Amino acid sequence: MTKDHPKVELHLHLEGAAPPAFIRGLAAEKHIDIRGIFDEAGNYRFSDFGDFLKVYEAATEVLKSPEDFHRLTLAVLEESARSGVIYSETFLSPDFCGGRDVVAWRDYVDAIREAADLAERRDGIVLRGIVTPIRHFGPDKARETALCAAETAGDWIVGFGIGGDEKSGKLRDFRWSFDAAREAGLRLTAHAGEWGGPDSVRDAMRDLDVERIGHGVRAIEDLALVDEIAEKGIVLETCPGSNIALGIYPNWRAHPVHRLRERGVKVTVSTDDPPFFHTTMAREYQMLAEAFDWDDGVFHDIALTSARAAFCDQGTRDKILKILEKAYA
Ligand code: ADE
Ligand code: ZN
Repeated sequence: MTKDHPKVELHLHLEGAAPPAFIRGLAAEKHIDIRGIFDEAGNYRFSDFGDFLKVYEAATEVLKSPEDFHRLTLAVLEESARSGVIYSETFLSPDFCGGRDVVAWRDYVDAIREAADLAERRDGIVLRGIVTPIRHFGPDKARETALCAAETAGDWIVGFGIGGDEKSGKLRDFRWSFDAAREAGLRLTAHAGEWGGPDSVRDAMRDLDVERIGHGVRAIEDLALVDEIAEKGIVLETCPGSNIALGIYPNWRAHPVHRLRERGVKVTVSTDDPPFFHTTMAREYQMLAEAFDWDDGVFHDIALTSARAAFCDQGTRDKILKILEKAYA
């Protein structure tokens, strides 16, 4: 599967997609010493998921102004477009964009959106934003994040999610934030079933009433849950390369994405934090084709599932569906 197939990506962390050279460049400009987060080859260096989160947060230290996020967005979308991505949704955190101050947050969203408009004109790629509290920062900060999200909800900020350490706290403690986001018209997703097992996925469905789940792959450990996910039409934003890089599964053939799909679950494919995991959307497609013998028909189906599950308006969705229809005809 090549980079030429048009792709739809639903699970991408904007800061996590920052090329290491971009972060190093900003660090040099601002005289911030973050050399410790890189290895000799210049890639991000981390040992496990906890360490990954620390390195991720250290990298955000150099992303200070709306202008920095403008430049970041352009760099990230250039890379996505190179992989054939035509539509992408990115997680954005007010924690890293103005410290959850609503007035500052607006400036960051404006700058990111402006860059997205430029990239759309330059590369034809369309971007939308999903506001995301960080679970290990706790429910109080998540409330502030939800208020930022509600202020900017509209045709560009279209969703609300939660990322961070899945082992930290209980999802039900974030219910207020998710309810506020829903009332503001935002569509909902939550990271679950990455580091937590089936109960964690059940919590996301029951306590937050989300329509998509970030990862969700460990639902495979309980087939009754898999059947419930399929029946309810909940969409899994799987990120196989991320799971393998972080050691959740030993290799591509051991990843449950194929079994979940075979059992009727709506699965989509994304990169999560591509440079951290040495992946791209083109590589995800390539590795899945090799591991599971997936052909064009499967990738077409996955792209259609992704487009239908996207949080954008119907007009934008129709445009994406038209491109997919043409490409796979
Ligand atoms: N934030 C960035 N990447 C993440 C991941 N894979 N899981 C949870 N939170 C994240
Ligand atoms: Zn993620």
